[in-house]
Parts: sequence; structure tokens; C-alpha cells
Amino acid sequence: MERTFIIVKPDAVQRGLTGEIISRFEARGLRIIGMKFLQISQSLAEKHYAVHAGKPFFAGLVSYITSSPVVVIAFEGTNAVAAARKAIGATKPQEAEAGTIRGDFALEIGRNLVHGSDSVENGQIEVANFFSEDELKSGWSRNTDPWIFE
Ligand code: RTP
Ligand code: MG
Repeated sequence: MERTFIIVKPDAVQRGLTGEIISRFEARGLRIIGMKFLQISQSLAEKHYAVHAGKPFFAGLVSYITSSPVVVIAFEGTNAVAAARKAIGATKPQEAEAGTIRGDFALEIGRNLVHGSDSVENGQIEVANFFSEDELKSGWSRNTDPWIFE
């Protein structure tokens, strides 16, 4: 089953939007396989956002993501990566559609509330960067699964 990695970012936790954000993914049908509350270290932040190293916003991005605790979640489901990205909305909140998390709750790119993996490969890598295998309950089933997965 496809995996995706979500961060409920510091601004979302501080603003009391954690439950609202998790419920968007849960209601879509994605199945939680791991979840933790933690403050991301400088080194883990630099690893997670390594693709952006050297860009002008990198230092601010690392400072933002490490500034306060976050909730990290591993989800699995059919098309989990694309489904989560759709629910999150465009990177720039002013371009995010209403009905998406960023379109409904955010105004600025550097306070855009939530991270979601951008490819199936990165979903696997990011879940592994934040969770050990024994912290994940991969493949557990819900009684509702046959009503969500064909
Ligand atoms: P994320 O990785 O956090 O889910 O966001 P994303 O895929 O939508 O956007 P990405 O291009 O990966 O950028 C990562 C985060 O860096 C900040 N950013 N700032 N000032 C800027 O031009 C700029 N560009 C990106 C945002 O916080 C973005 O979520
Ligand atoms: Mg990204």
C-alpha cells in the first residue's frame, strides 16, 4: 500500500489546528500507520529539506520547522501521496484552492501549516527518516476498509 509522510507544522500546532488537519486526511480514507509529537532537530530538518539546501529560503525554512513541536504522521492508502497533496493545496497559500488545508487556513508561504511527500519514492524515504519500522503498524485493517478500498 502506498505511503505518505505528513508534518503538522509548528504554526498549525500553535494555532490549535492539529485535529482539523488530521481529520482532513482521515476523512479522505487514509489509514494512520504511525504518529508522534516531537520537536524536529536541526540535523533532521536539514535532512528532510535537503533538496532545498542552498536556496535563499532554506535557513528560514529550517528555523521555522524546528521552532516548536510538530505532529508527524505516516499514512497509507490508495494513491496516498497524490490524495494528501490535493488535500493540502498549493505551496503558496494565495494560490491554494478553497477546500484545501492551505486554502482554508493559511496566508503565507512560510506559514503554510502542513507538509506532504511529493512523490511515492519520497513518501517511503521520509517515513523511514522519522519512524523506525517497529513504530509503524503497516497493513493493519479497519472495519471500514472495504468501504474505502475497492
Ligand atoms: P512541503 O515540502 O513543506 O510540503 O511544501 P511544498 O512541497 O508544497 O513546497 P516545497 O517546494 O517543497 O517547499 C518547502 C517549503 O519551503 C518553504 N518555501 N519558501 N520563500 C519561498 O520562496 C519558499 N519556497 C518554499 C515553504 O514553507 C514550503 O512549504
Ligand atoms: Mg515539498
